[in-house]
Amino acid sequence: MFEHLKAIPPDPILGIIAAYAADSNPKKIDLGIGVYRDEHGNTPMLDCVVEAEKTLLSTQTTKSYLGPPGVVGFNTAMSQLIFGADSNALQQGRIRTVQTPGGTGALRVAADLMKVAMPEAELWASDPTWANHHALFPAAGVNMHSYPYFDVESSSLRFDAMIEGLQQRGVGDVVLFHACCHNPCGVSPDPEQWQIIADIAAERGFTPMVDIAYMGFERGVDEDCLSVRLFAEQCHELIVASSCSKNFAMYRERVGAISIITRDAEKAAAVESVIHNVTRPNYSMPPTHGPAVVDIILHSKELAAQWVEEVAVMRNRINSLRKTLSAKIAASQIQRDFSFLARQSGMFSFLGLSVEQVHRLRDEYSIYVVNSSRVNVASFNQGNMDYFVEALATVLND
Ligand code: LMR
Repeated sequence: MFEHLKAIPPDPILGIIAAYAADSNPKKIDLGIGVYRDEHGNTPMLDCVVEAEKTLLSTQTTKSYLGPPGVVGFNTAMSQLIFGADSNALQQGRIRTVQTPGGTGALRVAADLMKVAMPEAELWASDPTWANHHALFPAAGVNMHSYPYFDVESSSLRFDAMIEGLQQRGVGDVVLFHACCHNPCGVSPDPEQWQIIADIAAERGFTPMVDIAYMGFERGVDEDCLSVRLFAEQCHELIVASSCSKNFAMYRERVGAISIITRDAEKAAAVESVIHNVTRPNYSMPPTHGPAVVDIILHSKELAAQWVEEVAVMRNRINSLRKTLSAKIAASQIQRDFSFLARQSGMFSFLGLSVEQVHRLRDEYSIYVVNSSRVNVASFNQGNMDYFVEALATVLND
């Protein structure tokens, strides 16, 4: 059965983990996968998570199944967190949130749901978008197209072209947005632009799907939900894939959720039953340790406040790294303008390097960057930035 199979190259992002681990250069830098790192290069557990885990371990009495919805308290808390406790759709019973194994799990469930609800529906994603979107949706049988988004020359949003593209979408199209901290380009619409986008979605009748994997890393926990809340107010239907990997630093626990808004409460119940029907033959029931921890945090006034502060520390550190890196490059002999680094947000930015230059960074300096030249800004620190700028100058100026 396996005789004809040939090895395939590793995933463009995940492949870097193994290559970096095997590199013995003490100066090596991993700018690949999107995980937050502190000044010492570590990805620490949040204090609120450690506290909540202690509570969980001292109160949990069984590991028996919870059933397809998983931790119901988590689902409720995530609905309130994402849509706001005063959300009209929430009060009307039009929202259902179901935990999933990470944000990627939520996206896959969304794709499976699309295939059941409207098999011919196609997905429109920003150009560019997260590399795994391109693998995930077609793997579920969903055709993918793109709308204009990022201008390589100016490292900024192609807003007019984006709007023109969205105006051509309509009922039966699903349009994917990144709520904040766009992965991979770090450029997001501003609040006024989100309002225009939500107006177009309502007018044209396409179904927005929002991937919110970095909530709290751009402007703030509440602020980063703006697009979701505008769509929720103005559209009859909405799909949201959320992740707690980054903002709760619970990466390996795989904590995420799919939220659906429908026209009325009855349809919402029907959609939830379909979600359970598509997950049953896939992973049957979701893992519950991580969601139980998030449930404890979000239902405790103190821990929830502590969490918001811990997210702010990560956000502020990334923003200050962006400013320092941009200033260091400007002060070096590099001629090219990298000031966009300070204007963009979240973990990711494109450096605008060729694949050959990316490979030189890896081969000559042990600096690991995704082939698209996307870097994870959170991996920089005071100890590695000068080395990086020196290497960048060499590959740009040679
Ligand atoms: C990334 O883009 O690096 C993260 O979302 C992690 C992943 O799974 O790719």
